[in-house]
Amino acid sequence: MRPDRSVAVVAGREDTDREDVLDVLRCRQTVIDALCSRGFSAFPIDITRDDFSRSRGVARKILSASPSCVFNLFEGFSDASWLEIRFADILQSLGIPFTGNRSETLALCLDKDLARRTLGQAGLPVAPGRCVLPDYGPDVAEGLLFPLFVKPRMEDSSVGIDSRSVVDSPEELFRLLDERLASFPDGLIVEEFLEGREFNAGFLGSYPYELMAVSSIDFNFGQGVRPFLGYDSKWEHESSDYKNSVSIAEEGIDPKLRKEIVRISREAGKIMGCRGYFRVDLREHRGRLFVLEVNPNPDINTDSGFAKQSARRGYGYAETAVRLVRIAMNGRPLYEEKSSREGIRVPASGGKDGCLLEA
Ligand SMILES: Nc1ncnc2c1ncn2[C@@H]1O[C@H](COP(=O)(O)OP(=O)(O)O)[C@@H](O)[C@H]1O
Ligand SMILES: [Mg+2]
Repeated sequence: MRPDRSVAVVAGREDTDREDVLDVLRCRQTVIDALCSRGFSAFPIDITRDDFSRSRGVARKILSASPSCVFNLFEGFSDASWLEIRFADILQSLGIPFTGNRSETLALCLDKDLARRTLGQAGLPVAPGRCVLPDYGPDVAEGLLFPLFVKPRMEDSSVGIDSRSVVDSPEELFRLLDERLASFPDGLIVEEFLEGREFNAGFLGSYPYELMAVSSIDFNFGQGVRPFLGYDSKWEHESSDYKNSVSIAEEGIDPKLRKEIVRISREAGKIMGCRGYFRVDLREHRGRLFVLEVNPNPDINTDSGFAKQSARRGYGYAETAVRLVRIAMNGRPLYEEKSSREGIRVPASGGKDGCLLEA
């Protein structure tokens, strides 16, 4: 084994039955198997809350394994997602290459208020809305058109999003805000509900990034329902919301619209400083596209949208995992050098996605 082939695959370990957290542990085993099948020596490291409470606990744990690269699947803990930022920060200070995005990007994207404002100031379309803190006033919905959508400011994976997240009147809004602010005191985002199709686009590498594919969500919720991806749709496999929300390939997306999805997503990734891999979620509403959010280090489990998009691009699971490690070991510049960009392979098997670099 070459010394540069030892990869610590790091995930958070906590006592929980939350599906999104358990999914990361399953994903870790898949990544380890994939990397080992390609000649890497991949092994797990668990990060616990205790590691953060001990002086240099996290750093010492990582250093004692002396990996050449960390495959970063750490997403914080169920009540402390912000620790994913701290963890990336520690890796940066240690100078160990790690997969995915830097702490600055994780911080910018995790805070949906900051993310909305950053994207908006850069001229990218975001839904009209605002951040609501526990001391909010009666004018909280001023200038916004109902129905409104309420989501936690500092969560991801649709945590805190369920069938009650769309509200039709100020009374309903105030009731929901009071209830949800008790669980999410860091704040909520209140946005106009964007009725329309939902898309996402996955990317790899440095700007201008290699597009994996564009997908749309097929909601089979029946007439009269305003569909969106709540927690159950993403994680509760037995729920009807899960069964009725399917990410599908891009067939049927008008080429002009698709081009615009790719352009906006690429710009959004650049503005947030993304590198390594990321996915942008968007919605179309009244003929316009809006960025819902940029997901640095999205779920890459075998059944994830990102893994399926990479497969459509022509990369098998193990190949994607290896590419993420290689990108990390190459130092992940924010901008790709022109020469290496020109050298990007476009797989013949990529089908419709095989020409996406030009998109
Ligand atoms: N303004 C909105 N209008 C309609 N649906 C929304 C809006 N914001 C979020 N959603 C729905 O909620 C889901 C999760 O919201 P998102 O902002 O992507 O946060 P998360 O980080 O939890 O994925 C989206 O995939 C979408 O279905
Ligand atoms: Mg999302």
